[in-house]
Amino acid sequence: MSENIKIAVVGSGYVGLVAAVCFAEMGHSVICVDNDERKVAALQAGDSLIHENYLPELLEKYRNTSVRFMTDLAEATRECEAIFIAVGTPQSEAGDADLSYVEAVACEIARSITSYKVIVEKSTVPVYTNEWVTRSMERNGVARHLFDVVSNPEFLREGTAVTDFLHPDRIVVGADSERAAAILTRIYLPLTTGDYYNRSGAIVGFHNVNQPPPLLLTSTKSAEIIKHASNAFLAMKISFINAVSNLCEATNANVEQVARGMGLDSRIGPRFLRPGIGYGGSCFPKDVAAFRSVAEQLGIDFSLLTEVEKINSQQKRRFLNKVRSALWTLRGKRLGVLGLAFKGETDDIRESPAIDVVEMLLAENCSIAAYDPAAARRTKEELPAGPNLCYVDDAYAAAKDADALLILTDWAEFANLDLNRLNQTLRYPIIIDGRNLYDPDIMVKHGFTYLSIGRAAAYPVRDVASLSSAS
Ligand code: UGA
Repeated sequence: MSENIKIAVVGSGYVGLVAAVCFAEMGHSVICVDNDERKVAALQAGDSLIHENYLPELLEKYRNTSVRFMTDLAEATRECEAIFIAVGTPQSEAGDADLSYVEAVACEIARSITSYKVIVEKSTVPVYTNEWVTRSMERNGVARHLFDVVSNPEFLREGTAVTDFLHPDRIVVGADSERAAAILTRIYLPLTTGDYYNRSGAIVGFHNVNQPPPLLLTSTKSAEIIKHASNAFLAMKISFINAVSNLCEATNANVEQVARGMGLDSRIGPRFLRPGIGYGGSCFPKDVAAFRSVAEQLGIDFSLLTEVEKINSQQKRRFLNKVRSALWTLRGKRLGVLGLAFKGETDDIRESPAIDVVEMLLAENCSIAAYDPAAARRTKEELPAGPNLCYVDDAYAAAKDADALLILTDWAEFANLDLNRLNQTLRYPIIIDGRNLYDPDIMVKHGFTYLSIGRAAAYPVRDVASLSSAS
């Protein structure tokens, strides 16, 4: 029932590379184009370049067969029916998305197009991008009947990118032409019919043959807005629970209980209600800013988004103050840091709140021993080791002789530490947890002073006794 469609994916970053190998896994023939020759050579040799579950296996299975990597976009354009643009759309100084890479790809496609192609926006782009891509194709002399531009936003998360791609909550296709909508519908048939989930060796996830994901057909502009609005909404949910966590701290309530109580309301839902040191990554900060900028340009007051950003940046400063409140003064304190990635299970450090906190602590003249299971190499390039910063190879080395241990990223590994060993290793048994990975009662039983987000600070009995005798 499913057919093999020739697909070009332009860009081999998180979205492009994952889309390329997943389209191959769905049964299509893919050309993945990148203008970075070194990246192409590495991918051809089987180096997946990013830390992502299932990616090395899929790359090994399909590289140089169902997925070919090349730098030649002209050849890919000639060979393929659908061209997915998955290049970067970084944040410009003004906060809006810089679409110059998308434009450059559109111009290059325009130079080599000889038969009908559907050009697909896969990168996150603001509303009206499809119109600009269309205009740019036309300006470069391409007849209108030779192409359509559609929006097919991607909702994968780093760390679970492959399973998210193959088991999406929904597939959104924004197309203003039936011909283009039909091609996209054919591309996703292996998922929407459930065929893929029936195959032996299929990557297991939420969906199965009886419960395939829905494909939602919309206008192109609606699809563009769906992507920005979804990310902005999720960021808002996080900022909301972070603001609530501050309220909980001020009242001695417990934000975990509050989030659970809220999340059980099916209209609210339990996900993305985890408080912490704020959201980061290559998407939320950039997309909230870009969506705000789109609204501004259209003369629409969407200052809610400014508040979302404000709460997010305050959350890091609040954490710094929490560290100060536990240690009295910061200058010269030796701190162990667990986590540098913007979230667990990834080596991505873009806009990582953990790194912002490390930089704030260095500015306060603390000395830091940092450990991250995957992101240290990348962090070293941005923040080289120096007299006050060293990178170590495990959590206990970070804790060694430290005045306190800080948890900044929610790696699963950090939730399963040997608490007795940690207690022996630290100079003072103080843990300040920016991700609420532990139960305060258990920490106190293990002799720790434990500060977390949106929950009362917990002190071991002897500390409470000495505090009250001192007062
Ligand atoms: C996000 C969206 O979740 C994806 O749906 C979307 O496709 C992607 O952006 C994108 O636009 O490309 P991602 O940035 O990979 O995915 O990571 P998330 O899991 O969403 O986490 C983002 C940040 O929010 C992290 O710093 C994380 O620690 C934080 N977070 C997340 C919280 O602080 N609390 C939560 O409850 C959830």
